[in-house]
Amino acid sequence: MKKNKFFALLLALCALPMWAEGVLQVIPRPAVCQEGDGTFVFSKKVNVYTDAYPGDSIRLVFNRFAQKLQAAAGVQCKEAEAGKAALLLKLNSQLGPEAYTLQVTPKQVCIEAARPAGFFYALQTLQQLLPTRAVLAGQPVAKGTKLTLPAVSISDEPRFGWRGFMLDEGRHFFGKDEIKKLLDVMAAYKLNRFHWHLTEDQGWRIEIKKYPRLTEVGAWRNSKVLGWGEVKPDGQRYGGFYTQQDAREIVAYARERFIEIVPEVDIPGHSQAAVASYPEFLACDPQNAHEVWLWQGVSPDVINVSNPKAVEFAKDVVDELTDIFPFGYLHLGGDECPTNKWEQNADCQKQLAEIGSTKYRDLQIHFYRQLQDHIAAKPQAQQRKLIFWNEVLHGNTAPLGTDITIMAWVGADAAAKDAAQRGLRTILTPQIPYYINRRQSDLKSEPRSQGHGTETVEAVYNYVPMAGVDADLQKRYMGVQANFWTEWVEEPNVVEYLMFPRLAAVAEAGWTPQSLRKYNDFLNRLQKESEYYQLRGVDYGKHVIK
Ligand code: ACM
Repeated sequence: MKKNKFFALLLALCALPMWAEGVLQVIPRPAVCQEGDGTFVFSKKVNVYTDAYPGDSIRLVFNRFAQKLQAAAGVQCKEAEAGKAALLLKLNSQLGPEAYTLQVTPKQVCIEAARPAGFFYALQTLQQLLPTRAVLAGQPVAKGTKLTLPAVSISDEPRFGWRGFMLDEGRHFFGKDEIKKLLDVMAAYKLNRFHWHLTEDQGWRIEIKKYPRLTEVGAWRNSKVLGWGEVKPDGQRYGGFYTQQDAREIVAYARERFIEIVPEVDIPGHSQAAVASYPEFLACDPQNAHEVWLWQGVSPDVINVSNPKAVEFAKDVVDELTDIFPFGYLHLGGDECPTNKWEQNADCQKQLAEIGSTKYRDLQIHFYRQLQDHIAAKPQAQQRKLIFWNEVLHGNTAPLGTDITIMAWVGADAAAKDAAQRGLRTILTPQIPYYINRRQSDLKSEPRSQGHGTETVEAVYNYVPMAGVDADLQKRYMGVQANFWTEWVEEPNVVEYLMFPRLAAVAEAGWTPQSLRKYNDFLNRLQKESEYYQLRGVDYGKHVIK
């Protein structure tokens, strides 16, 4: 071979990356991926082998995928012995709880995982490797589309165990169908925690049987828009709530997609809707009128934590939430809780002296401590670990011990480090840039929303979780989460427009090793998502996707 021909070949070989950028349009990008030669073609009948698993869970995971495949493309999956199967799902106990391997050759597709979640995630990747997003979106595949998979060898597992998305339904209410749609997209991106912000000054959205006025009164207000600046409440009766049956249905739907639901009742601040429902024992000033709030911002009308009946109320709410939501975490809020009303209240002043503090923030901690003790007395299956927003760090958290989790949003990196140094677990939800309700560009076509267009897809993507954190503290970082607050957003399509594709960027931060994360590569892979969004019927920000 001539010398320059040899060098040209060598150069060409070196230029062949392990993962040709933008070719395999999988999001989040897998940890290890090696492309092979040829393709696997789905015939109309596919023999499938699945290893046994308690509760037949692997088969259940596979069957849900098989039903989609049949509905979308008429492919029938049939059980077969391992030796005769083209699709194999095999247990590999060496892998982590959410890890999987996926080997595709022209003859066979083989998935290995240790747990059902790993098989589920392998099947999400597999669906993204198909030439169409129709199967993933649950839509019929266009006539003439050949269902193929490129030969590939993937070995994948998440960087973080907590990969979340929070939706505020206190300010605006979107309903079950919308939540299910968002859960579908979360699952496609291998997100595994839906943090459901269910209560606010402006609305209480979950039925609590012992306190019916929470939803008879607290779920309704006299304005759809929330007043701010020049904008005034519009006088339109607005509201809605989830019955416990609705919430259980959502929990089951999420669990089928390996998403756990973390309910949040934000108490004792952000609680004006609850106070308006039961002012006689929740208000610091029951003699005054209280209504569900019509405005944006932080209401001073907080729960009177020194009233034993208010503590009893909170315990009862925790009991019913524990019964509805089986996941081991419960979020009690704790952000932006003004103490002015406590400072003016004789019972609060007395309680502060009794607990030996001079800081009113510590009354809030004392309130949580009583709820924590209440939970600790429950049977094992009803134990819940508490999560709080990072403002609780302004109080003395010592009475709560170290078995709590701090969700770090304001000054997030410093707050998370503070939490970790106190021995607490932490989750990164930095307001800038992970509040994906803020404008994602300064284009005139952007819908009305908060911010200045600086939380671009690129800015969201380029946030580096846990940057510069010492190795000994890193074990306390559970993961990342995008948050969506809805003061400015009334319609589900606007929620979607702002969420997507930024949620995909956060999902990749939660899953993919930092060393593999490159915005241009992400952008290339993102181009395929427009097909998915359109087929699944979700709106999305178009300025970065053609
Ligand atoms: C928050 O953004 N108030 C948690």
